[in-house]
Amino acid sequence: MMQVTISELLRSGAADLAPHSESARLDAELLLGEILSRGRAQLAAHGEDPVEPQNVQAFRMMLARRREGMPVAYLTGRREFWSLGLRVTPQVLVPRPETETLVESALELLPRAHAARVLDLGTGSGAIALAIARERPLCAVVGTDLSPEALAVARENAAGLGIGNVAWRRGHWFDAVPSERFDAIVSNPPYVAADDPALAALQAEPREALTPGITGLEALAQIAAGARGHLLEGGFVALEHGADQAEAVAALLASHGFRLIRSLRDAAGRPRVALGFPETNFP
Ligand SMILES: C[S@@+](CC[C@H](N)C(=O)[O-])C[C@H]1O[C@@H](n2cnc3c(N)ncnc32)[C@H](O)[C@@H]1O
Repeated sequence: MMQVTISELLRSGAADLAPHSESARLDAELLLGEILSRGRAQLAAHGEDPVEPQNVQAFRMMLARRREGMPVAYLTGRREFWSLGLRVTPQVLVPRPETETLVESALELLPRAHAARVLDLGTGSGAIALAIARERPLCAVVGTDLSPEALAVARENAAGLGIGNVAWRRGHWFDAVPSERFDAIVSNPPYVAADDPALAALQAEPREALTPGITGLEALAQIAAGARGHLLEGGFVALEHGADQAEAVAALLASHGFRLIRSLRDAAGRPRVALGFPETNFP
């Protein structure tokens, strides 16, 4: 019996996913690459290699789950963020490229030679905390989450990547660090409004990672309210938010005594990060 080749499978897989995914070809490559333990470059270089029937079957099963809306990262158990290969499970949000804007903005304000204390609230897979900890080895980073399952994934990622300058705490926002202060507080909290139609396409991800309540601003408001009391002198807060929430988040920060509030845009040009410095604390 003729065996199907890698390139034939990728072609048919991409066509199969095209009505369901904007990145159908990439999805097919990542899924087949996971099954065959090969990178995308290797798949391209060995396109004429035949694929064993059990691997074809495994690929078809993954395609079916992808068509039903399961993110590729949950199917492969991996996601790259800031060049870190992270393990992800359905208990954590799949880290998004736009969150790299938040990491970039924090790193710009964290000098390499300074042993700063950094807090990442709602760390999920640990993506932000681990990226900052890797880039700033002298910093002591704390990642928090309400979800023990998320913290277990974050811990596993830190161990797998050999990143030691990060600690993990569980709790509702600042309750996880009641009497601690930091040079930088960063967060990508849930910020999608409960009735946002976009949630329909995100059903595989933990609801508590996506939406904090009716308006979508509830978590951002709680973090803005608590941030000043947890900052060291000269510190700053950097918060990711929805593309249509920049003004609201700036107003929240201003109402809690932050000044010099700046809005930063992601690679697609959308305002995604609010940066603020406490009033008495101008850098
Ligand atoms: C949007 S996800 C961000 C995950 C990760 N930081 C990232 O950027 O990929 C928000 C995270 O906040 C956590 N979370 C939700 N409510 C929380 C709360 N009240 N206190 C602490 N963490 C919370 C969720 O469990 C989730 O991991």
